[in-house]
Amino acid sequence: MPDRLIPGPADPSFVANEEPLREPTAQPDFQQVVSARYQRRELLVGSMGFALAAVFGGLSRSGPALAAGAIVADGAAPKATHDLRTSKLGFVAVPTSNADGITVPPGYRAQVLLPWGEPICGDYPPFAINNTAAEQAQQMGSHHDGMHFFPLQGSSTDGLLVLNHEYAESRFLHAAAEGLKLSAFDVPLRADGSRDPEQVLKEMYAHGVSIVRIRREGNGQWQPLRDPLNRRITALTPTVFSGPLHGDPRLQTAYSADGIRGRGTLNNCAHGVTPWGTYLSCEENWRYYFVREQGEMPASLSRYGVGPLNAWRWHLAAVNAGEASAQYARFDATPRADSPRGDFRNEPHGFGWVVEIDPFDSTSTPVKRTHLGRFAHEGVVFAPAREGEPVVLYSGDDSMFEYIYKFVSAKPYHAATACGSLLDEGTLYAARFDSDGNGEWLALAPGVNGLGAENGFATLADVLLNTRGAADVAGATPMDRPEWGAVDPATGQVYFTLTKNTRRTPGEAVGANPRAKNAMGQIVRWSEAGNDHVATTFVWELFLLAGDADSGRDLRGRPLDADNLFANPDGLWFDADRRLWIQTDISDEEQNRGLYRPMGNNAMLAADPDTGELRRFFTAPPGAEISGVVTTPDQTTMFINVQHPGSSTRAQDFAAGRLDSHWPGGGSALPRSATVVITRECGGKIGA
Ligand code: FEO
Ligand code: CA
Ligand code: CA
Ligand code: CA
Repeated sequence: MPDRLIPGPADPSFVANEEPLREPTAQPDFQQVVSARYQRRELLVGSMGFALAAVFGGLSRSGPALAAGAIVADGAAPKATHDLRTSKLGFVAVPTSNADGITVPPGYRAQVLLPWGEPICGDYPPFAINNTAAEQAQQMGSHHDGMHFFPLQGSSTDGLLVLNHEYAESRFLHAAAEGLKLSAFDVPLRADGSRDPEQVLKEMYAHGVSIVRIRREGNGQWQPLRDPLNRRITALTPTVFSGPLHGDPRLQTAYSADGIRGRGTLNNCAHGVTPWGTYLSCEENWRYYFVREQGEMPASLSRYGVGPLNAWRWHLAAVNAGEASAQYARFDATPRADSPRGDFRNEPHGFGWVVEIDPFDSTSTPVKRTHLGRFAHEGVVFAPAREGEPVVLYSGDDSMFEYIYKFVSAKPYHAATACGSLLDEGTLYAARFDSDGNGEWLALAPGVNGLGAENGFATLADVLLNTRGAADVAGATPMDRPEWGAVDPATGQVYFTLTKNTRRTPGEAVGANPRAKNAMGQIVRWSEAGNDHVATTFVWELFLLAGDADSGRDLRGRPLDADNLFANPDGLWFDADRRLWIQTDISDEEQNRGLYRPMGNNAMLAADPDTGELRRFFTAPPGAEISGVVTTPDQTTMFINVQHPGSSTRAQDFAAGRLDSHWPGGGSALPRSATVVITRECGGKIGA
């Protein structure tokens, strides 16, 4: 009944798809650190030796001022003529698109699989806009993101698809929202300002992770199977905390008096896959689910932006929820009882972690691995595991001016016995990128890098609970929103997307983050010293600068062109043949407007890491980002996700029933996030 509801404006501090600015800290002025090290105007970057001649704010010692971030080709580096027979990229580029559909290169096919609402477990209730919350719990969640294909017995035609559901767009989730003036990040409120518990419960069940067995049938089409391993993990699934925060008093709540158990996982963005075959789901923008109206604010909340406003307002359902009120009230982190065990002041401490899930045990409890740090985890990528050596993984904190981290396990990897406990003991590091092309990993532990009781980091648990604050003290380098990482399977080089940072000032534009008001983003890569992932120093270079022909440059310093201009790199993945797949996330409201007009809708490109060749492979419907990418072991099937089609629809257009996208159903259908299955008509490897 739409007249029962009113639009609830989002948290004014929340800018859609523009992750929050870091809170002010006592970190030494970043520019002072950089100035001390900065010696050269021109910094050679890129294995091909092109020069990055950037105006590093006022630091430039000599020479004419160039446009900030410009890369100047070093001598003649003509645009390569792409020979599809010899190139690593054997497909014809697709043009940019602003159409309400998807595009793949000639010779490729695309199939939509497992859209939001597809039944996958329990009673398999069919999708309908008026599905109940209980039905949503048995269906695919929304906003598909990180994803992995776990083959059954090595099969390339049968396996478990495991994927994250980052969030849900309330206006598309509830039939009762029809006709309301709601934007993508608004929620419907009752006239008394409360939220409907059934609606909030449906939103909670649309979050989390899906595990679904899928199989390629004789006709070449992939289908979900009804399988006992199929499972939904949601914002209500019980979890446990392992590692240094296990049983910590700061995890005690009215739900978990011992600080060992938690409830649910939130804002699951990208993912990781462990060398022992489990799935890691990463909690990114969890802070937008919590409010703290008053009371002393520990740094473990304030440094993450928790405050009196939030976006999703799930706590506002508690008043109408009777005996179930606690499952909503837990999103109000205001101290209200005499003890943390009587309220939910510590509930936000239970989020911002990496969650390990065993997809092959449907009764397993997801485990939050606290030694991997607490921040806005985008995803996790492992270095190749080597027998008898530590396990190493990398993870980015996707907010403006946040950091890139690495974890090195204390115990060695042995394939026969490796399991998640390897992630419970080790060293967490944050990266410092020096402007001379060198870098250092700064250990985050009491007694090193300035961390100690005097600044709130007496114990390892203190460090991990406020990982951001610890990295501030250690002097890590604030980056342009680190998103996915990828490790080159041949060279061991580590790549990270830095999606954008429009708040970087000219004085802050240096080194690996060379552009002020960085609207386009870049990809950085580095080699660990001695090509050893355990090393504490590295050498970095820029792999490319995203942008159009004016602002975008490839590895050789060549301008990007019609075949490969793009903005806002996000998803990143190496296939087994070392094609680097790059997925874009231009924010929904900015797509096809202003600086972003040349890029069209979001896209996926592939790059050759040796030559820098770069070509567009896929385009998305309006509003959507592309996220998640994996192939079957034989590389003949690729799975990617189309997340939030139609989210660019303006509030007034939604109210009038004018949607920017009806993908994938077409006609007047509601847009639905979905997986896209890509194959070749010839049956060959994707991208080859
Ligand atoms: Fe959820 Fe940083 O993307
Ligand atoms: Ca997203
Ligand atoms: Ca992302
Ligand atoms: Ca993004």
